[in-house]
Amino acid sequence: MPRVQLLLLTGLALTMANGQQLRVKLRARENNQHSSSFLDSNSTEGYKKLHLILQNRDNVEYYGEVAVGTPKQNFSVIFDTGSSNTWFPSSNCPKRNLVCQRHKRYNSARSRTYIPDGRNFTLWYGTGNVIGYLSQDTVHFAGATIPGLIFGETLFQNQNAFDSVAFDGLVGLGMEVLAWKNTTTFLGHLCSEHLIEKCVFSVHLRNSEDKSAGGEILFGGFDESLFEGQLHFVPITRLNYWAIEMSYVSVGHKLIGGKMNAILDTGTSLILMPQKIYNIILKIIPSKTEGGFFILSCEPETLPDVELFIGGKPFLITPDDYLVEVDFRNRKVCTPAFAPIKLDFWVLGDIFLERYYTVYDVTERKIGLAKAVQSGG
Ligand SMILES: *[C@@H]1O[C@H](CO)[C@@H](O)[C@H](O)[C@H]1NC(C)=O
Ligand SMILES: *[C@@H]1O[C@H](CO)[C@@H](O)[C@H](O)[C@H]1NC(C)=O
Ligand SMILES: *[C@@H]1O[C@H](CO)[C@@H](O)[C@H](O)[C@H]1NC(C)=O
Ligand SMILES: *[C@@H]1O[C@H](CO)[C@@H](O)[C@H](O)[C@H]1NC(C)=O
Repeated sequence: MPRVQLLLLTGLALTMANGQQLRVKLRARENNQHSSSFLDSNSTEGYKKLHLILQNRDNVEYYGEVAVGTPKQNFSVIFDTGSSNTWFPSSNCPKRNLVCQRHKRYNSARSRTYIPDGRNFTLWYGTGNVIGYLSQDTVHFAGATIPGLIFGETLFQNQNAFDSVAFDGLVGLGMEVLAWKNTTTFLGHLCSEHLIEKCVFSVHLRNSEDKSAGGEILFGGFDESLFEGQLHFVPITRLNYWAIEMSYVSVGHKLIGGKMNAILDTGTSLILMPQKIYNIILKIIPSKTEGGFFILSCEPETLPDVELFIGGKPFLITPDDYLVEVDFRNRKVCTPAFAPIKLDFWVLGDIFLERYYTVYDVTERKIGLAKAVQSGG
């Protein structure tokens, strides 16, 4: 798969999915900033909404801070709507696993609130796996405390997937059915322990050069100042993912496909689509191939818009959104932020989520979308 390798070389680690989970990551540099977080609280009513401020790595990784144990051990984590479990690198990971060694590691021996679990686990993501064992401890984030979260301590992290990323661990915001048996997910704890007033969270990703302004996840509601117009709500179409139905897609006013499912995934950078659809779209968008790699004009005005029809409403993706500049054979070229997968659904990653504010309603099993505000706020 030369295209994949090329993208890996240029920093886009691209998934040809064959597992249950999909992720696409870009290379990251050293992270030395701590995000600030604040809490919307009212002591008489308990927590209502929790604001988690995100940082942004090259508009590809969006991550925030959590602390584990007593006293607190800090971690940068991806909040991933495409998976359901939570893990951190373990202080017991072997010296030879450099990926794990390069990130912050959880040390259970230094935590008074640690409870052993003893089960082993392996998790597969599109780009690679992690292996370890389960542990239980207190997790703090955005001013709230989750006592007794069961999470993974990783002893092994796949190098391709996790070596050069800015985040240490991962918090899954996906469905309970994909989580480890007999565990309550991060979101499950927030909701069942009433740490938030409504079992809803909202994602605002800011495509920005300023990495301290990566956007935010709001747990417990949505923030009307971060989107324009009305939220457009559609039901979730699958039990296991934050998936919605697209009725069709239009590219330069040509209609493609019938009904298709699309997963909203903060842990994926690009927009992934079934191979067949990808081939059709890359025939409509003026492009040339070089070594199996699609090259587009770097002038957005020469390229067509892509519209995704969700719940009867078009969601526009412009060439400015989908053009990515990469180094190819020692020159800068432009390529679409689309990638083919061997599955029959789409994955709407950060390219889509930067443009659209999304609201994930666990109780009513629906997703709200609206055009995100990008400047200011
Ligand atoms: C907290 O709740 C009280 C009583 O319901 C109300 O008077 C007060 O304004 C609230 N404070 C905040 C910061 O929302
Ligand atoms: C952990 O994060 C908190 C809040 O950002 C900060 O006050 C604290 O100093 C950090 N601790 C360490 C050991 O970095
Ligand atoms: C977990 O894995 C370790 C080796 O990594 C093994 O020694 C242990 O027996 C396993 N535990 C269970 C419960 O499978
Ligand atoms: C889950 O809990 C039930 C009841 O406590 C137990 O019978 C079952 O073996 C547990 N399953 C796993 C995978 O731990």
